[in-house]
Amino acid sequence: MAGESASAAPARSEGLVTVRASINGRTQQLEVDPRATLLDTLREELDLTGTKKGCDRGQCGACTVHVDGRRVVSCLTLTATLDGKKVTTIEGLASDGELHPMQKAFVAHDGFQCGFCTPGQIMSAVACVEEGHADSDDDIREHMSGNICRCSAYPGIRAAITDARKEMR
Ligand code: FES
Ligand code: FES
Repeated sequence: MAGESASAAPARSEGLVTVRASINGRTQQLEVDPRATLLDTLREELDLTGTKKGCDRGQCGACTVHVDGRRVVSCLTLTATLDGKKVTTIEGLASDGELHPMQKAFVAHDGFQCGFCTPGQIMSAVACVEEGHADSDDDIREHMSGNICRCSAYPGIRAAITDARKEMR
């Protein structure tokens, strides 16, 4: 059976593309299938499982990360398009062992229940403030509307964003 398993091994170099990208501040060279999504590369190749897979079709926001400082849904982003780009995931948000103000605010305001949507909510929330789209409750509601929370932790999320906005400015 040894011969069988050797012949079944996938030919990993065939058809792969090379991508050099900064992932959470570390430049990495990746050999990826041109069809691979950033979400699958993060979770399955780089073991960065903080980014969650919800719908896998761009509808829930659970997989939100930043590319060059802008939020993207990583389930609809091809890794092959990221050569030379800077990717930040929830694992890269804290610095020097200190949680990001948005992470602290989510804890302080009970902005999560099951926690599954939380990494995507936090990444969107940080971008929302940085884009200047967090000046009122309505503003926050509108610009966080792509992130679904099935537990309805929305009041805590909104309070956390309002609070963290003051720290981030
Ligand atoms: S998993 Fe990407 S938007 Fe739902
Ligand atoms: S905290 Fe559970 S889905 Fe949002």
